[in-house]
Amino acid sequence: MPPACASGSLLQLRGMDRDELVALLSEARDAREPEPVHATHGPVALCFFEPSTRTRLSFEVAAQRLGLAVIALGDASSTSKGETIVDTCRTIEQMGIACLILRARPSGMAQVVARSLSCPVVNAGDGRHEHPTQGLIDCLAIAEGLGRDGFDLSGVRVLIVGDIVNSRVARSSAAGLATLGARVVCAGPPHLCPDALAAALGVEVARDFEAQLALADAVVMLRVQRERHGSSDEGSWGAAGGPDAYRLAWGLTRERMDLLQDHAVILHPGPVNRGVEIDPEVADAPRSLILRQVALGVQVRSAVLRRAVAPS
Ligand code: CP
Repeated sequence: MPPACASGSLLQLRGMDRDELVALLSEARDAREPEPVHATHGPVALCFFEPSTRTRLSFEVAAQRLGLAVIALGDASSTSKGETIVDTCRTIEQMGIACLILRARPSGMAQVVARSLSCPVVNAGDGRHEHPTQGLIDCLAIAEGLGRDGFDLSGVRVLIVGDIVNSRVARSSAAGLATLGARVVCAGPPHLCPDALAAALGVEVARDFEAQLALADAVVMLRVQRERHGSSDEGSWGAAGGPDAYRLAWGLTRERMDLLQDHAVILHPGPVNRGVEIDPEVADAPRSLILRQVALGVQVRSAVLRRAVAPS
């Protein structure tokens, strides 16, 4: 964590050392019924400037389980009157909060805010940069699903498929999984999974989707994030062709699921576009961990909140 940020902040998984990552994952694994935090703390502030279902509500449940009050910025915040995100967060900090959870559209905004505040800041997704708690969820779900109790993922091959270029989840998950020893392979069409990006993330790139499915121990499917494709083609599919063409080329269909090894697990961070990147019967298959990821989200966020408000 950059020295300018308060202790207990969590901005990204890239650069987190293995011992710290394993300690956080171990605490999350053991946080099914977390002990309340005993010291007196101000509320946890949820500042979401982009839509969210899973992340926002699981942070709220996690805070409640720890006995922490929650305040949440609604859609009608004063940013609509021109206030900057940093000024809004600095304003909320003056109300005596214990920590601030931030989701924002600009990449890197979590670090900008963290450097402007004295309290811990947790990145709940900033643009195309990172979504570290989702990365922790994916590491935990894969370790659990494959029976790797000590979080040693050596020899495990994880295939991440789809819109890598726009995915903060892919960046966080790839960083965390690689730190645990997994081999991370990204697959997708060149405009969504360019060779150069994969090199920057330290992963392999593959285009032979079906051959890669047969080799994978875990497959992470990603939504095509059309809202991040830029104003010129916002809402359009651009080179992806359209939902049917995308499904034919890169969707995890029922037929493609049959190519997987018996032990292989399927993940998706959500929200899922059924019938596009993943077929409904695949999303609901016994080997799908999609709902397990949601449940683990509460445990991960409990561990992250405890670390933020009551660092050991
Ligand atoms: N995975 C994820 O971040 O989902 P939400 O956008 O619903 O929080």
